[in-house]
Amino acid sequence: MNSKEARVTPWEVSGEVNYDRIVKEFGVSKIDEKLLERIKKHTKEIHFMLRRGVFFSHRDMNWLLDEYEKGNKFFLYTGRGPSGPIHIGHIGTWIFTKWLQDKFNVELWFQFTDDEKFLFKNMSFKEVQKWTHENMLDIIALGFDPKKTHFIIDTKDAGLLYPEAIKFAKKINFSTLKAAFGFTDSNNIGQIFYTSMQAVPAIIPSILKKKNIPCLIPLAIDQDPHFRVARDVYTKLGYYKPAIIHSMFLPPLTGIEGKMDSSKSDIAILTTDSPKEVENKIKKYAFSGGRDTLEEHRKKGGNPDVDVSFQYLKFLFEPDDKKLQKIYDDYKSGKLLTSELKEILIEKINKFLREHQKKREEAKKMINKFVLK
Ligand code: TYM
Repeated sequence: MNSKEARVTPWEVSGEVNYDRIVKEFGVSKIDEKLLERIKKHTKEIHFMLRRGVFFSHRDMNWLLDEYEKGNKFFLYTGRGPSGPIHIGHIGTWIFTKWLQDKFNVELWFQFTDDEKFLFKNMSFKEVQKWTHENMLDIIALGFDPKKTHFIIDTKDAGLLYPEAIKFAKKINFSTLKAAFGFTDSNNIGQIFYTSMQAVPAIIPSILKKKNIPCLIPLAIDQDPHFRVARDVYTKLGYYKPAIIHSMFLPPLTGIEGKMDSSKSDIAILTTDSPKEVENKIKKYAFSGGRDTLEEHRKKGGNPDVDVSFQYLKFLFEPDDKKLQKIYDDYKSGKLLTSELKEILIEKINKFLREHQKKREEAKKMINKFVLK
């Protein structure tokens, strides 16, 4: 499938995503050196996901930093649609969010859209509740500061969200959603309302503190259209438009088309996978940029740019630029074989998951510290 056929909506990512095209189509701005320097002034270092262009575009980051430099601190907002287990693609977005929380010392509001997943998936409400609980454990395990992190669950915190959501809903037409998401007359009416629920947390702290507070939303680019649709409504209601920083998609094991997705769990790495499962999945499915025969690989070298194992190291598991470059060079020259590259990745992921799963267990006692009272 070529990039013309790629599709990126909050509910579907397919085809090979052309990010330059997305930048134009979505009307977002690429992150450039100047912006990185500006961020570095405050963070002292640049996260490898920014350095490597994994977070590649934004909306209004310069405005956010102008405000920050004037002493108008922002808060972070992101979320999860709890319809299944967490995979390593989600984790990347949140590891970066935690880095922002630590570096800027700011609050994070984290939304669990149980309403969304009930409305969009063929799943009972009870099952969605189970995943809400399970997914919270993963987010807590990533080490967010409980004093500065607030979980919002749409149906439980409806009393806070709903009076604001109706104000967004009143100003967004069905025709706008048809154009943005490809909705048709057969979409259920809950789906049509949903975007207004996702728009609201970007103003909740402003409402609670009775003054406008800037908001920064880290997300992968599939979630941007909700905010594009709601963008003008923020100002119409008297609030700031949120700034947004966008990540690329971690691809599924099978190659660089589409995104890793927990509903296709055999070609995703889940945070609950055992070391053996990780090993088996990578050995069986991880798309290789290597050559057909050992001889040919040694002679001509592999292609790390399409090799999924290399991409996972680049996105998440090898933060050291020098080590990553060496792997890149060795693979390209044919010195490093696909089987060896896969071994490097398996070891890194299993080391990460061992630690994560331990913290996930400890998180069971901590949920109360994060949910809104
Ligand atoms: P959800 O649960 O589909 O995804 C949660 C977050 O993970 C990102 N993501 C990925 N990032 C990189 N690679 C992937 N393969 C990948 N798959 C998913 C998503 O972009 C998202 O940032 N409706 C939302 C929940 C939500 C939300 C928000 C997300 C509510 N408020 C504000 C971002 C910001 C959802 O279903 O996300």
